[in-house]
Amino acid sequence: MADPFHLAWFTPFKTPAWKSPWAAGTATEWLNGDYYIDMARALERAGFDFMMFEDSTLVSDTYGGSQDNDLKHGLHSPKGDPVPLLPILAQHTKHMGFIATMSTSFYPPFILARTMATMDHLTRGRVGWNVVTSSENLAAQNYGIEKLLEHDERYVMAEEFITVVKGLWDSWEPGAIIADRETGVLVDPTKVHPIHHKGKYFDVRGPLNLPPGPQGHPVICQAGGSPAGRDFASKHANVLLCQPSGLDEMKEYRDDIRARAAAHGRNPDDIKVMYIIQPVLGETAQEAKELAARRDELTQDQIETQLGIMSITTEVDFAQFDLDSPLPEDIHTNGHASSLKSLVKAAAGRTLREALLGRTNPAVPLVGTPDSVAAQLEEVADAVGGDGFLVRGEPVRTHSRRYVDEIASGLAPALRRRGLIRSAYDKPTFKANLSAF
Ligand SMILES: Cc1cc2nc3c(=O)[nH]c(=O)nc-3n(C[C@H](O)[C@H](O)[C@H](O)COP(=O)(O)O)c2cc1C
Repeated sequence: MADPFHLAWFTPFKTPAWKSPWAAGTATEWLNGDYYIDMARALERAGFDFMMFEDSTLVSDTYGGSQDNDLKHGLHSPKGDPVPLLPILAQHTKHMGFIATMSTSFYPPFILARTMATMDHLTRGRVGWNVVTSSENLAAQNYGIEKLLEHDERYVMAEEFITVVKGLWDSWEPGAIIADRETGVLVDPTKVHPIHHKGKYFDVRGPLNLPPGPQGHPVICQAGGSPAGRDFASKHANVLLCQPSGLDEMKEYRDDIRARAAAHGRNPDDIKVMYIIQPVLGETAQEAKELAARRDELTQDQIETQLGIMSITTEVDFAQFDLDSPLPEDIHTNGHASSLKSLVKAAAGRTLREALLGRTNPAVPLVGTPDSVAAQLEEVADAVGGDGFLVRGEPVRTHSRRYVDEIASGLAPALRRRGLIRSAYDKPTFKANLSAF
């Protein structure tokens, strides 16, 4: 029997699948947070470890030279800032963790360190930071930056950024607040230290103007895929998200991360590698198969969505390529290199249209009843030794309350019956629950 693993949900803070027949009210209602509050409560009931909110900050006009496609399909906008959402979700739940994405290319490190420390207090130790370096010049231009640094240099800058942030969280020693009524001293000044950081990218004096929260350093999440990204992640992350395709790639990724972590002097077990999944569930195997076939149909919506998202994250205009010809092999990006590489690989010897077929189906195909998919996940965990899975609703059909319920009320109980996921949260903080197994 496989060891228990962690379950999480990967989502943007944006419009759910508003065209689905099960989407009443979701086109605008999500903006007040209610959709995500319902989701958090359902997932906590189901024993999920955390929700991770991805983020980006642009309306893109890369696809076809116009912002029409991004706005028509709600691809990267409208999208809310997940940061203020996190404490609200924490107030409606008791145990689950919540991760927000914040970019090292755009945030000043002091603001990030202060915001995360404040949220860690507000949530009593249930927040995490997904560290990204960002990939879109169009987003950079919203912050007065014409062009992002080159890919690998962004990780050099991220390394300095996170060193500053950790230094700020550590700038208050434990027990600095003494609140001594006799002497009238609130904070012991000998326990609060400026960091005097002067570096290539940042000058930050410090100290932080509040003590760190219950977790000390909030959970660090990362999704690096390149050698530079993997190295950064294996040095700093508590949890890693990835989207490899097939068991061999899943295993290669995890083994590589664990080897790099050991080389950094870390215990590889302290990094949880989580794979993105998108199970298709039915009451019968036949029903699930039919749903999966419908999900994989390459509708015009799917084409515009897939190519639109690829255009946004790589800043290459995919509207320029003929759907019925092979993709050129020499496409270059300073954005999401891993996504581009995986599409180019899928397109080898085929047309672009053929390469898009079934691409909504990540890591491993999981199609069946809750119980049979639970059995499949057990086999996958046995084969690759992963630390858990991250469910993702796909934007056109399954980013929906209905899908959340299928997973929370169907798959999660089936996994629990097999002893594969937690039945209680035994520890006081998100990080402690994540490290419990
Ligand atoms: C599951 C997953 C979630 C990600 N979330 C974000 C995100 O919210 N914002 C962002 O700018 N990049 C995001 N990325 C991109 C990664 O941070 C990273 O840049 C990408 O995986 C490519 O790796 P590399 O940076 O090492 O080339 C995500 C990637 C994956 C696989």
